[in-house]
Amino acid sequence: MSTPYAPYPLGRPRRLRRDDFTRRLVREHALSVNDLIYPVFVLEGQGRREAVASMPGVERLSLDLLLPVAEDCVRLGIPVMALFPVIRAELKDERGSEASNPEGLVPTVVRALKKEFPQLGVMTDVALDPYTSHGQDGLLDATGYILNDETVEVLVEQALAQAEAGVDIVAPSDMMDGRIGAIRRALEDRGHVHTRIMAYSAKYASAFYGPFRDAVGSAANLGKADKKVYQMDPGNSDEALREVALDIAEGADMVMVKPGMPYLDVVRRVKDEFRVPTFAYQVSGEYAMLKAAAANGWLDHDAVMMESLLAFKRAGADGVLTYFARDAARLIQK
Ligand code: PBG
Repeated sequence: MSTPYAPYPLGRPRRLRRDDFTRRLVREHALSVNDLIYPVFVLEGQGRREAVASMPGVERLSLDLLLPVAEDCVRLGIPVMALFPVIRAELKDERGSEASNPEGLVPTVVRALKKEFPQLGVMTDVALDPYTSHGQDGLLDATGYILNDETVEVLVEQALAQAEAGVDIVAPSDMMDGRIGAIRRALEDRGHVHTRIMAYSAKYASAFYGPFRDAVGSAANLGKADKKVYQMDPGNSDEALREVALDIAEGADMVMVKPGMPYLDVVRRVKDEFRVPTFAYQVSGEYAMLKAAAANGWLDHDAVMMESLLAFKRAGADGVLTYFARDAARLIQK
């Protein structure tokens, strides 16, 4: 004899999953266009457009062709574009001198973007790797070790050149000790009190940056060398909290974890511990993986793109740097 109640579960979580309206009603996290930062690669010259083989859909563009992309970002409501320069070989040297040239590519592009589209946030990378003949982010001593304090002095000059060109956010991605404090003091000294710093605080020595190094043309300079003497060990997570604590104390306005998807645990720990604006970078290798699988028909492009970006929000990120930014914004708008 069966009772109408006995064997049935008391809680049925599937009730709320049954219909789209309840799924939407109880959804905890969502991706908005306001969460997106779009990284772009910029070249010298006019009318130049080069595909990046390992990053389908990503191009290196000269300023004239970048302007319509910036306009598209404005139209889509993407808050910030992040600039990465492709520097020609003749301008690279041991010290990355071109990085602090006030008439160099990055300051020139920043001035043009801020003039044409003042409402679009512009962010620039502070690190020497696109500018050095050895492809490292800092200066080398006689043994090839990356010098810290000497590098910081050069980074300060680079950040000042960017700030003087009118950039909104400087983003030191070099992982030298003390660079956030040094840059913050220099910015204040020169009256750049509004320049925001987004610190690449927990940046790991990751193999997922490969396609980016192709894109900016530092891969060949770097050769077989790695960045393990300054970028973080992928085995560490407490250390990420110490890095973030230092950067906040030194004056960072926003912090970042990089790469993204393989490091969502770190994003969550940073957000829980500090409750500051926290960003994640879905890096070139992550983009390449998803693009390659989608191109083979193994994954649904739009579905994995949106799921991967939502995962950053669920992990506690306030925003994501992603090469998918425009595609995702277009889907959100629909
Ligand atoms: C430069 C820099 C790198 C990335 C952003 N800034 C490369 C590196 O550290 O070697 C990687 C971004 C990506 O892979 O998409 N310091």
